[in-house]
Amino acid sequence: MTASTGAARASVRRRRRSSAVVLLVALAATGVLWTAFAPRGTAEDTAATNEAVRAGRALYLQGCSSCHGLQGQGGNQAPSLIGVGSAAVDFQVSTGRMPLAAPGAQAKRKDPIYSQTQIDQLAAYIDSLGGGPRKPVIDEAEWNDADLAHGGELYRANCAQCHQAAGAGAPLTYGKYAPDLSHATPTQIIEAMRTGPESMPLFGPGQVDEADAVAIAKYIRHVSEAPAAGGHGLGKYGPVPEGLLAWLVGIGGLLAVCLWIGARQKV
Ligand code: HEC
Ligand code: HEC
Repeated sequence: MTASTGAARASVRRRRRSSAVVLLVALAATGVLWTAFAPRGTAEDTAATNEAVRAGRALYLQGCSSCHGLQGQGGNQAPSLIGVGSAAVDFQVSTGRMPLAAPGAQAKRKDPIYSQTQIDQLAAYIDSLGGGPRKPVIDEAEWNDADLAHGGELYRANCAQCHQAAGAGAPLTYGKYAPDLSHATPTQIIEAMRTGPESMPLFGPGQVDEADAVAIAKYIRHVSEAPAAGGHGLGKYGPVPEGLLAWLVGIGGLLAVCLWIGARQKV
């Protein structure tokens, strides 16, 4: 071994040692940065989600699997729930449509049999089978900022043909009907748009964006809660039935009075 090769080896060893030190420092720095900036509580969140999924699965097996299948795959009694998302579960179960009580043309709105916590657990389980539209969260500022007049325009353009001008609902074909909207909460209204239950069309975020969806919900709540300033609301069926009633009762009444006067004069 010559002196020059010995010096070269020593310098290689030194370089290796210094790159090892750099690597260690970099690793330590990454660790420090990670602890400083990592989102907090992820471990707890995951644990909470896992717990909800487990509880939801237990509820699902008991109340839903007889129709929707043990894995949510669907069957000859009910459609698959894989990929329907938490919005569909929250809508169907919070409006009492599910669990379906009796087969019919359309699931009816009933009092829900599950608590909101249980509904969230069922939704977490169905979400874990494959994503879909998420249950919407409407914050107060968003609700206050929503444009009521614009919501009204969108409602008349997209919803009134089935649900009527003031949300009273109306029959459709084959025993189906567009329900009265006065019982639906803002969350349920947005969920209905995002999931398109039964024969209702789906209104995705590409068609009706988040702000517009909140505006529509605000308009529906507004007409449902508005007092009838002009007297009896006549079931809020809109201008045509109201006009018809004015004709039948008003003009019919006048005719009856005329006939009565005519009949008296003959005597
Ligand atoms: C008696 C059978 C039956 C039971 C029990 C039942 N479902 Fe359903 N479910 C149906 C049928 C039929 C449909 C489709 C008809 C409809 O949407 O009205 C449906 C539709 C749904 C939908 C809508 C799917 C979509 O594509 O948007 C969801 C979500 C749902 N069920 C969840 C549940 C949950 C959660 C439970 C248990 C709490 C449950 N169902 C129990 C029969 C059932
Ligand atoms: C083609 C007719 C049709 C149109 C258009 C339509 N819907 Fe519906 N809607 C329905 C039907 C049918 C149901 C009942 C679905 C079921 O029971 O599964 C329904 C149900 C609902 C419900 C649930 C009500 C409750 O009390 O549970 C809401 C909320 C709703 N629609 C809102 C809307 C909004 C908002 C629009 C416009 C963006 C709209 N719908 C457009 C037919 C329609």
